[in-house]
Amino acid sequence: MRFEKVICCIGAGYVGGPTMAVIALKCPEYKIIVVDIDKQKIERWNSNELPIYEPGLYEIINAVRGKNLFFDTDIPKAIKESEIIFVSVNTPTKTHGEGAGMAADLRYWESTARTIRDHANGQKIVVEKSTLPVKTADAMAKILNCGTNGCDFQIVSNPEFLAEGSAIKDLLEPDRVLIGSQETKGGIKARDAIVEIYLHWVPKERIITSNIWSSELSKLVSNALLAQRVSSINSITPLCEITGADIREVSKAAGMDSRIGSKFLNASVGFGGSCFKKDILNLVYILRSYGLEEPAQYWEWVVKINEYQKDRFVKNIIKAMFNTLAGKKICLFGFAFKANTSDTRESAAISVVKKLIEEDAVIIISDPKAIDNAKNDLKGIEGKIYFVEDPYEASNGCDAIAVMTEWDVYKGLDYEKIYKQMNKPAFIFDGRNILDHQKLYEIGFQVYPIGIRSLVHW
Ligand code: NAD
Ligand code: UGA
Repeated sequence: MRFEKVICCIGAGYVGGPTMAVIALKCPEYKIIVVDIDKQKIERWNSNELPIYEPGLYEIINAVRGKNLFFDTDIPKAIKESEIIFVSVNTPTKTHGEGAGMAADLRYWESTARTIRDHANGQKIVVEKSTLPVKTADAMAKILNCGTNGCDFQIVSNPEFLAEGSAIKDLLEPDRVLIGSQETKGGIKARDAIVEIYLHWVPKERIITSNIWSSELSKLVSNALLAQRVSSINSITPLCEITGADIREVSKAAGMDSRIGSKFLNASVGFGGSCFKKDILNLVYILRSYGLEEPAQYWEWVVKINEYQKDRFVKNIIKAMFNTLAGKKICLFGFAFKANTSDTRESAAISVVKKLIEEDAVIIISDPKAIDNAKNDLKGIEGKIYFVEDPYEASNGCDAIAVMTEWDVYKGLDYEKIYKQMNKPAFIFDGRNILDHQKLYEIGFQVYPIGIRSLVHW
C-alpha cells in the first residue's frame, strides 16, 4: 500500500508508543514508524506482551500494528523515510555534574539530534514531543544545521499532556493540543503540517498554536501547576489530622468554587511519576540560571512539601506502631505511582519502602500490574522484601497494611477476612483515602487515613 505521508517517532516509551498508536489509528493513510535504541522494548511492542500497561492500548495496537504502525530498531532508515520526525526520548534529571539533581539531562535528546542530522535527507520537520527546558529548540537548530547533507530542518514544539493510566482517553479527547513554531514562513508551514495530523480527530478549537518558546515553557508550567495543587492540599493534611477537620470535606468545599476547580485536590501520600518532580526541578534550575531566586524557591517548595508528605507518612506509621517497626510485617497495597499503570517511576512507595526497611520492618508488596517494576526499583536494597500479587495472601500474617496506590481492587476486598488473618493490633494506613474508614474501624482495625483524624481503639 502507498501511504500519503511517513512519520516516525524516535523513543518508544510511555509517550512515543501510545501517541503514535493513536495517530496511526486516526490517520490510516499515514505510515507511522516508532523506533528505539532499546531492542528488547521494540521486541515487546511487536509482541502480545507490550512493554507498558495502559487501559485500551493493547486493543489499538492490535488494530493498527503491521497495517500502518510499525515498531523498528533501524533508526537511520526511519529518519530517511519520514518527512515528520517526532522525538519523544527521555529527559530525566541530571544525576551528576553541573546542575545535578535539578537540570534536565539532555544527553538522549542531543544524541537523537545528531542522529537525525547525520541520516536525514531533503526536508524534515522535527517535532519536540519530549518535555524540554525552554530554549531547547535553539540548541537543536544549531546541531541540526551544522550538517553537511544540505537538509532543510524545521523545528516544532508539540508537548504531550497525557497522564499515565488515562493516556488513551487523553490522546483521543485532549483538552488541548499545543503546537509551537518559529514565526517564519517555513516555521508556520511546518506547524500547519502538524496541525493537519491532529485535525483528523481533535476539534479545531482545541488545537492551539503559539511561538515555540511559549510552547516549550507551557509544558513545564502545566506540570508545575498540577503538582502545586497536590502539594497545596497535602500541606493542609497534618492540620486536619490534629484539628479534626476532614481534608476530603475541605477539598470538596474549596474545589466547588469554579475559580479553584475540583480536580487534583485529592490528598495523598505524595505525588509520584516520572515528570512532576523532574519538571519542577528543571523549572527551578532554569529560573535560578536567569538569577530569579525568589520564583525558584517558590516552586522548589512544591517538591519539598512532597518529600515532607512521604516522610510524614512513614513517621506516622512508626509513631502509631509504638515507635518500633523491627521485625513487623507491613504489607503495601499498591506500588505503582498511581492506579491503572504499571509505571513505578518516582512512586511514593519507593521512598516509603526504603524508610521502612531502615526501621528493620519486613515488607510485602502487592500490586496488580507493577510487581516486575517494583522488583527492579528495589534491587540491591538490603532487607526483607517480598512480592506477592494477591492482596489476601500478601496481608496474611501482617501487622499493618499501607495503601500506596488507589487501585479499585483494594476498595472491594473482604476486610473482615483480611483482619482475621492479620496480627493484632492490626493497622491500616490509607495513603490514598480510598477505603471505608468507619467500617474498617468497626471490624477492629486501627485506622490512619491522610488528613483525617485516626480511628483507633485506645
Ligand atoms: P520513556 O523512558 O518511557 O521512553 C523514552 C524512550 O526513548 C526509551 O525507550 C529510550 O530507550 C528511548 N531513547 C533514549 N535515547 C534514544 C535515542 N538516542 N534513540 C532512540 N531512542 C532513544 O520516557 P517517556 O515517559 O515516554 O517520556 C518521554 C518524554 O516525554 C520525556 O521528556 C517526558 O518528560 C515526556 N512526557 C512524559 C509523559 C508520561 O506520562 N510519561 C507525559 C508527557 C510528557
Ligand atoms: C502528569 C500530568 O497530569 C500530565 O498532564 C503530564 O503530561 C504528565 O504528568 C507528564 O508530563 O508526564 P502523570 O504523572 O502520568 O501525568 O499522572 P497524574 O495523574 O498527573 O498523577 C501524578 C501524581 O500525582 C500521581 O502520583 C498521583 O497519584 C498524584 N495525585 C494526583 C495526587 O496525589 N492527588 C491528586 O489529586 C492528583
